[in-house]
Amino acid sequence: MAREGRKLLAVIEGESVFPPPIWIMRQAGRYLPEYRATRAEAGGFLDLCYNPRLATEVTLQPIRRYGFDAAILFSDILVMPDALGQPVRFAEGEGPLLDPIRLDEVGRLDPSRIDAHLAPVFEAVASIRAKLPAETTLLGFCGAPWTVATYMIAGRGTPDQGPARRAALSDPEGFQRLMDLLVEASVRYLARQIEAGADAVQIFDSWAGVLDDLEFGRWVVEPNRRIVEGLRALKPEARVIGFPKGAGAMLEDYVSRTGVDAVGLDWTVPLSYARDRLQPRTAVQGNLDPLRVILGGRPMEEGIDRILAELGQGRLIFNLGHGITPDADPETVGRLVERVRAARR
Ligand code: CP3
Repeated sequence: MAREGRKLLAVIEGESVFPPPIWIMRQAGRYLPEYRATRAEAGGFLDLCYNPRLATEVTLQPIRRYGFDAAILFSDILVMPDALGQPVRFAEGEGPLLDPIRLDEVGRLDPSRIDAHLAPVFEAVASIRAKLPAETTLLGFCGAPWTVATYMIAGRGTPDQGPARRAALSDPEGFQRLMDLLVEASVRYLARQIEAGADAVQIFDSWAGVLDDLEFGRWVVEPNRRIVEGLRALKPEARVIGFPKGAGAMLEDYVSRTGVDAVGLDWTVPLSYARDRLQPRTAVQGNLDPLRVILGGRPMEEGIDRILAELGQGRLIFNLGHGITPDADPETVGRLVERVRAARR
């Protein structure tokens, strides 16, 4: 077993553990009344992200309530452009807003600003680790270059990431410069999180699923591969979970070319494919449809049991296929955790 009996870390490092360790993407969030209370105390969403005391508090809330096997640093993938010099704001009920960047303006962004601007995040990582039970794995994270770039270029969330896809297709050299900068910044950011006490890191490529296979190779596989390689050059012990949401048939290639230690699966990935093609190479994480948690009852139980039956023999980290939504019932989440923990082979 991995250090201090950290089950989730053990799975990432190569062991099969049953019942599998469990955590939930966006486990600290609006479905929890205690999160909403701390969020109100902080003021704006970014004020919460940059306040080490309150970020620590919301990170620990789901651990206290459910005893998850991992805590994930409370922050957001968009602190990256904010740190680089493209300010981000979160308008109430509107999601993130940025002044869109043009590819000929990328030279203005400065990766060396990360250390100072994101110092409160590193402080939060250290303070979370100090308060966390020894057996709980601490995850750091960043957004993948492609996914972060979709917000930098559009200035907001879009239904199909059209603005970033256009930019990448029409000016690949300019787009490459933005990717290079984000790779360098992400390596630096993740290395600092590991130094501050993160056991492993997850790279969120939430919009990986909108690219054709040529563009997927360039803007998803290659930047993720370079982050893994760059991070391991600085921190040989670094453990990395990749989450290329929507990658579908390109998952196998993603796993073999990036060298991630674990791969996050969205709920559309067939369990037989995950078992036969992915699990022999890497640990898999996922992939319950979040809607099954909203419904609870039979839809949730059937989803949990299938994942455990199909993937429970190998290296599995139980999770949802994407973040939990604000309409989830905290009691249903409790029943999800109980069912996974009560499972027997
Ligand atoms: O998983 C966790 O508990 C850690 C915290 C975390 C947040 N965002 C908190 C958050 C993590 C890992 C993220 C990642 C993130 N942020 C992603 C990638 C993962 C994914 O869900 O696809 C993306 C694309 C973002 C960008 C982002 N942040 C958007 C589009 C929004 C607005 C949509 C929304 O859900 O409101 C956010 C805001 C955000 N990030 C909230 C939380 C808890 C809600 C803000 C609030 O409390 O008002």
